[in-house]
Amino acid sequence: MKEEIIKIKESALEEISNTQDLKTLNDVRVKYLGKKGELTSVLRGMGALSAEERPVIGSLVNEVRAKIENALNEKEEKFKQAELQEKLEKETIDITLPGAKIKRGSKHPVNRVIEEIEDLFVSMGYDVVAGPELETDEFCFERLNLPKGHPARDMQDSFYITNEYLLRTQTSAVQARTMLANEEKSPIRMICAGKTYRREDDATHSHQFGQVEGLVIDKKERNVSLADLKGTLEIFVKKLIGKNCELRFRPSYFPFTEPSYEVDVSCFKCGGKGCSLCKQTGWIEVLGAGIVHPNVLKMNGYDPEKYGGFAFGTGLDRLAMFKYAIPDMRYLYANDIRFLNQFDRKDEE
Ligand code: DAH
Repeated sequence: MKEEIIKIKESALEEISNTQDLKTLNDVRVKYLGKKGELTSVLRGMGALSAEERPVIGSLVNEVRAKIENALNEKEEKFKQAELQEKLEKETIDITLPGAKIKRGSKHPVNRVIEEIEDLFVSMGYDVVAGPELETDEFCFERLNLPKGHPARDMQDSFYITNEYLLRTQTSAVQARTMLANEEKSPIRMICAGKTYRREDDATHSHQFGQVEGLVIDKKERNVSLADLKGTLEIFVKKLIGKNCELRFRPSYFPFTEPSYEVDVSCFKCGGKGCSLCKQTGWIEVLGAGIVHPNVLKMNGYDPEKYGGFAFGTGLDRLAMFKYAIPDMRYLYANDIRFLNQFDRKDEE
């Protein structure tokens, strides 16, 4: 019986080493180790053995079974490796092939200007606040000293949704919102940039445009004055447009400030000599500003005897045009990628 087992082992190992593929290897496995396999049938004959022989043959069979199993597994592993290798070779990817180009977007010039203004004012201790674009007549006009029927409303013809709701015509609405929301009636330093709307559409006006508003309110004894307003706007404009530009304050009228000013900047194109851009005046109007009107303070919960401050507002589109020397406002809204991509370089400068 011993010889028979050794023979089985030898022929099994030989057959295993001769197999060329997984399928024949599996047949060999069944042939020797399967239920009806050769080794199994040897085990079945063990009953006929004497008590001394049985453990000897038993352990020999186990040893042979382990050897055959090992050889089978090793060979199987080899086949699998070879198969994998073949697959890898067949399925190689040419990583040198150029991929599909992803088009990179770029930050819109108006958004660049907003970010720059916000950074500057945050560095001076201002809060950045936001307000709704769908605004009420109350906040857009009434609380800013522009009651119904006030002639200054004519300059801001708007898109009314209902009698009470409209698309805001000015970010000044956020002045009233900020004052009213401040329950402690503590000092305020805020700026608010965002979209505004008016019913006009020609070469130099668009029905949608951007504005940024600033508001500073403090206790009377802190004396927030016109000098502070001038200094603040000078820092603002010089930082944004260039340190060589000059500012000029002209008396003007806004219902929410008294006194009020329009602020001009020396023309960036001709340096103040006079050209077609500045209509030969050397100056370009950029801002509205003034000392907050007592009525506005009162209407929004601040005692004008105890508090005072300044406000200013300006158009973001014009600032972007000045900053980047964009000759036509309509470029800003034409969504032309050739125009928009040019501003990518500005990040690297
Ligand atoms: N809201 C004004 C406009 O759209 C601009 C303005 C002027 C804002 C004077 C102010 C200000 O805060 O004090 O024409």
